[in-house]
Amino acid sequence: MVTSPPPSVVVVGSYVQDLTWRCAAFPYAGQTTLGTFTTGPGGKGSNQAIAAGRAGAATLFAGAVGTDAFAAVAEAFYKENGIAARFAPKPRHATGTAAILVNDEGQNEIVVALGANGALSLADLPPALFAGAKVVVTQLETSLSAVAHTLRAGRRAKAITVLNPAPMRADFDPALLKFVDVLIPNETEFVALVNQLAPAASSPATAAYTEAQLAAEPPARTHARARALGVATVIVTLGKRGCLISQAAGFSFIPAHRVKAIDTTGAGDAFVGGFAAGLVEHAGDVAAAARLGQAVAALSVTKPGTAPAMPWRREVLKFLKTRA
Ligand code: ATP
Ligand code: RIB
Repeated sequence: MVTSPPPSVVVVGSYVQDLTWRCAAFPYAGQTTLGTFTTGPGGKGSNQAIAAGRAGAATLFAGAVGTDAFAAVAEAFYKENGIAARFAPKPRHATGTAAILVNDEGQNEIVVALGANGALSLADLPPALFAGAKVVVTQLETSLSAVAHTLRAGRRAKAITVLNPAPMRADFDPALLKFVDVLIPNETEFVALVNQLAPAASSPATAAYTEAQLAAEPPARTHARARALGVATVIVTLGKRGCLISQAAGFSFIPAHRVKAIDTTGAGDAFVGGFAAGLVEHAGDVAAAARLGQAVAALSVTKPGTAPAMPWRREVLKFLKTRA
């Protein structure tokens, strides 16, 4: 009998069917514009699991789907990829969907209907799911009770807990950060967290911190703001600029790889999944893991779509050889 290795990376999160329209420019309110359409598997949690699995980590994805045609796409996609998945069926809900617009500059606008993801419950996430995990990853695209449960379960399993606070939500409870070892926000999420949690770290203290300020300020200032969030490691992803790693001992900036980006949707997920795989491969070395995350993300933006654009390990290794 062939037995698969126990998963090193457990990702709890969303599965979403991505419905993507490409158009020259985003339509303005009231405008109709012509474009082209594709559809495929997506969802932040699932994208991260596929990125980690394809990057070489034994990965398990746990999420929820409806009992519809999109759920069948999900099952088939994981089978094709040889990555383990547990989909809790939610007959009263539709599988999650996302309407994604991508313009000629590669920018995107997204609306997500959580559907079944919002019904992911604690009963769907038994302790055995986390047994032996080295890294446990989650995001904010399921029920927030499932997020809290996952982080606690990750800690109990003595895994490194990773939270990608995406999409940032008004009902996010910052008390959850005490269960997080590595927090990975993008620029929007970082600004929102700083404004919610550490306004005193903003300058002047009374004014809201903005993405424009983040883009213009020296990394040491961003590091100081990140420290005020109270999480051991904060990695702020900065799009094509790269990422900033902030830890108690100091900060480092890793520039992104220069590539021809055609669709950056899911770049953050590629980074998180690659990073999780890197933590396993490099025994918890955050900088080495982030370098793997950057390579996975750079390759993902050179292809259309989200989960299908995640690179396989051999592509990543080949790419890293050319960039050494
Ligand atoms: P998205 O919401 O589009 O999924 P995000 O906003 O969560 O992405 P970003 O900060 O845009 O995440 O990107 C994550 C990582 O992906 C970056 O740190 C960088 O390594 C890589 N990346 C993003 N855009 C590019 C690009 N144009 N070229 C190379 N690497 C990129
Ligand atoms: O991060 C990209 C993902 O966000 C897309 O796949 C879409 O499903 C939304 O959840």
